[in-house]
Parts: sequence; structure tokens; C-alpha cells
Amino acid sequence: MLVELSLILSFLWFLLTAFEVMTSKRKKKSPPGPCGLPFFGSFFDIDLKNIHLDFLKWKERYGDIVSFKMNGKNFLVLNNIDIIRKAFESDEIGALMSDRPLNFIGENIFFGYKDVLLRRYDDEFMKMKKLMIRSMKLHDYNSDKFQQLMSEELSHILSKFQKTEGKPTEPMDILVPSFCNIIGMLFTGRRCQDEDRLLKVLVDFDRDGDTMIQPQVHAVYKLFPWIRHFPGYYGGLYRNVIRGRTELHNLVQDMKSKYDKTEVQNFIHELLGEHQDFAEDPDKGWLTDEHVLGMIMDLINTSVLTTKAVMAGALFLLSHFPKIQEKIREEITNIVGSRSPTTEDMASMPYTEACMMEILRYQSHLPLTAPHANLSQEVELEGYTIPKGTVIFGNLFACHHDETVYPDPWEFKPDRFLEEGKLVGADHPAVRNFIGFGVGRRRCVGQQMARIRMFLYTTCLLQKFKIEIPKDTSLPSHDPRALLSESPVILPPPMQYCFVEC
Ligand code: HEM
Repeated sequence: MLVELSLILSFLWFLLTAFEVMTSKRKKKSPPGPCGLPFFGSFFDIDLKNIHLDFLKWKERYGDIVSFKMNGKNFLVLNNIDIIRKAFESDEIGALMSDRPLNFIGENIFFGYKDVLLRRYDDEFMKMKKLMIRSMKLHDYNSDKFQQLMSEELSHILSKFQKTEGKPTEPMDILVPSFCNIIGMLFTGRRCQDEDRLLKVLVDFDRDGDTMIQPQVHAVYKLFPWIRHFPGYYGGLYRNVIRGRTELHNLVQDMKSKYDKTEVQNFIHELLGEHQDFAEDPDKGWLTDEHVLGMIMDLINTSVLTTKAVMAGALFLLSHFPKIQEKIREEITNIVGSRSPTTEDMASMPYTEACMMEILRYQSHLPLTAPHANLSQEVELEGYTIPKGTVIFGNLFACHHDETVYPDPWEFKPDRFLEEGKLVGADHPAVRNFIGFGVGRRRCVGQQMARIRMFLYTTCLLQKFKIEIPKDTSLPSHDPRALLSESPVILPPPMQYCFVEC
């Protein structure tokens, strides 16, 4: 009797276990993707520098939502705009999918994630992002002072291009310090001269920060964090970044010592004002000097790196398409004439704006969103279970080259953003499906600033110069799949151009 009972119980246990395994398997379906090796997963199958190209191949093979493993971690790639919106923007799961994965830079450079870009999605992040957006709006392109400084900066770089007398020139040598100067203007409300110490600090911090965030470099710090204490490449880079951070800290302390509540004139003053107000109320004292510094460091790296990629891409494409260059110049002549272009001209120059949109779409300078993560819990998406702690990428490169949305996606055609000579509206599919600045809670804070810079730099240059290729130089292909990525951005190969006065 006892034997029979134990047999029945064992059988029941077996049935229950089998049922649980079957139903949990049904419930926990993983998105398709490459299997890879045990533990290492797909580590040896992908090129970290050009990961977006591997993701593009996987899209063809596995579809709109792809999962893979690497070094024991789960990864997810979203290749379709509607799925990206659902994941990052929806009320149901948007907040859960808007964390950032834990990373070396946030931990060690940003004082334990006291910044916007690298922090997980929590209350402190929301307060910081709101403050960052508000402070940028008050002291950036809307203010007369900024417009004045910007126009001085543009005249300055034009005179530098003029001095090249049409000889082969590497434009980024002139443009990158200028982009650094502009972000410096936002911080301090003044324009640096070429020999200014602050300009050098910004240029160095941008260069070293850009190197450190490259996935292949960051992966080494993440796997071997102690490497930062040793001599050699990684230790040297780390010490350079910390040196830059100390210089920026000194700048904040200097501005703090001279801060006058009645004369708030720039981004740093704005944050310091908030800092003081919070300090007076002990319940709100979350904003520290480290947060102020974190936001400054965020803006240097996010703004200069992207602007560099966008302008390098724009010059490269314009030199490939001299007729398009000519059409933009024609619009400049008709609308702007001989005065300097301003932000107000953007609305009256649809062809130029269509070219800017197409440059952003075609090259997709940031091919992937910054990595998202669901740090707090597992999430259901499109019938799949996404395990807690998955690293998630929106594949902007794939979305912007989806032929169901953009016919002939690998052709550069500014006209796709025009209808009867006018720029298409926000609800046109070409615009609606453009998500180069991300969507949802982690959306870029610098979209308007980036668009304005791109317009002003391009029109100012084209008003004065024809951009040509030096004689006996051949242009490499402009197909964005052929451009090498200097991860996380896509850049054309370093090129010299001749800036020939019109
Ligand atoms: C054409 C130039 C630019 C492009 C294509 C671009 C694109 C993006 C993208 C795709 C993201 C990530 C979205 C996500 O993770 O889902 C992002 C985030 C961000 N961008 Fe930009 N960006 C540009 C310029 C700028 C500029 C000029 C600034 C600042 C002045 C800026 C500041 C930021 C910041 C702070 C974040 C982090 C937002 C967050 O984590 O919540 N970006 N940007």
C-alpha cells in the first residue's frame, strides 16, 4: 500500500513538474538570435567597432527582434520603429526599459552615476534631466547673447578656412575646437580665444572621453577595472580623463566663488542657483557639485562627438554631390543673400533642410541608441520574455534603411523630404519614422541644438566656399555600410578638402 502510494505521489510530482516546465517554456519564449559559444556567446562573431553591421545581417536572418548572449549577459536588438516605440515610449513598459546597463565610466568617472546619460531611470535621473533641459533652453540658441557669440564663432572659423586659400585642408582640425567652444559658451556665457586654457581642456576631455566610450575600449575597463591603476595605454587614458575632470571641477569651483544670484548668465550659474536653493532645503539637497560636474561632462561628450560625426558626414556627402551643393547655395543666395545665415532662415530654406534630414537619415551617425536595460524586472515584449538585466539597443541604422519606409534606402535623395518644393510635415512617414535622436524617456536633449548647428555651419561654409576634393584624390564610397565606425558614431574616413572661395 505504502509502495503504491509513493508511486502515485511520484507520478503526480512528475506530471506537475512536466506541466510546469512545459508551461514555463511556453510563457518564457526568447526572441530568435544566434546561439554562440557557452559563456562567450557571440563575442567572437561580432566586430565591436562595427556592431551595427552585424546587427543588420542578423535582422535579415532573425527579424525585427533579435536576442543574443555575450560574456554571460543577455542582449536584445530592436530593428523596427514600432517595436522601438513600444519598448521605450509606451506607458506599459517604457519606464522599465529605460535604465542604462551598469558601466565603468558611470561608476568611476561620473562619481557613481551622478549624470544623465549613464544613470538608470530613477527619480534622481528625472530631476537631473528636467533641470538639464530647462537650463539649456534658457542659455542656448534662444538667448540673444548666445546668437551673438555663435555668430562671432562662425566668422572666426570662416576666416580660418579663408586662410587655407583653397589648399587641401583637414576641416575637422578647425571645426572640432569650434564645436568645443560652443559647448563652452553654454557653460560660461563667453567665447574662448584659441589660446584659452578652457578650450584646451574641453578639446582634450572630448578626445579622451570619446576614446573611452568606444565599446572595444570600454569592454576592457569593464572586464578588468583594476587596469586603470597600471601604467600603459588604459591607465594613461584613465588618468587623462581624471585630469580633465579635475580641470572642469576647478572651473565649477571658480564660477561658484564668483556666483551672484542676481546675475545668472549661463548653464553653470543656472545649476549653481538650483544647487543653492536645494541646499537651503535639507529635504531637497540631492544636487551636489558632483551632479553639476556630471552634467557638464555629459554635454561635452554627447554634443561634440555627434556634431563632429554629422559635420564630417555632411562635408563628405556634399563633396560627392556637387549639384546638391549648388542647389543649397542657390537657396542661400535667394533667401540669405550676403548677410550671415541665422536660425530664422531655417523655416524659409526647405531644400537645405531636406538635405540636412537626408544626411541624418542616410548616414545615421549614431547607428544605435545608447544601450538601454531593464534592471528592475523581466518584461514581456511582442510575446517574448526579456530577462531582467538585458542590455537593449534600438537599431536606428536598420530603421532608417528599411525599404518599406524609405524606398531605395541606400540612395542619398533629399527629395524624399520634400513635396511640391515644401518640407514635408511631422506626420509624413519620412519624418515620422526618423528616430535619429531616440524616442521616449531617454530621448536626446540636444536635438534642436544639433539641428541648428548643422544648419548654421553648413550654410555659412557653403555661402563662402565650394567644397572640392584635392586633385588626384579619389573619394571613397559614400554608402554608409562601407564607412568605418569610430564607435559609437559612424564617421567617413579622415579627408582633406579644398575650400575654394565662391
Ligand atoms: C546630430 C546630433 C545628435 C544625434 C544624432 C543625437 C542622438 C542621440 C541619441 C540616439 C541618444 C540616445 C537615445 C537613447 O538612448 O534612446 C542621445 C542621447 C543624448 N543626447 Fe544626443 N544626439 C545629438 C546631439 C546632441 C547634442 C548637441 C547634445 C547636447 C548638447 C546631446 C545630448 C544628449 C544627452 C545628454 C543624451 C542622454 C539622454 C538620456 O540618457 O536620457 N545630443 N542623443
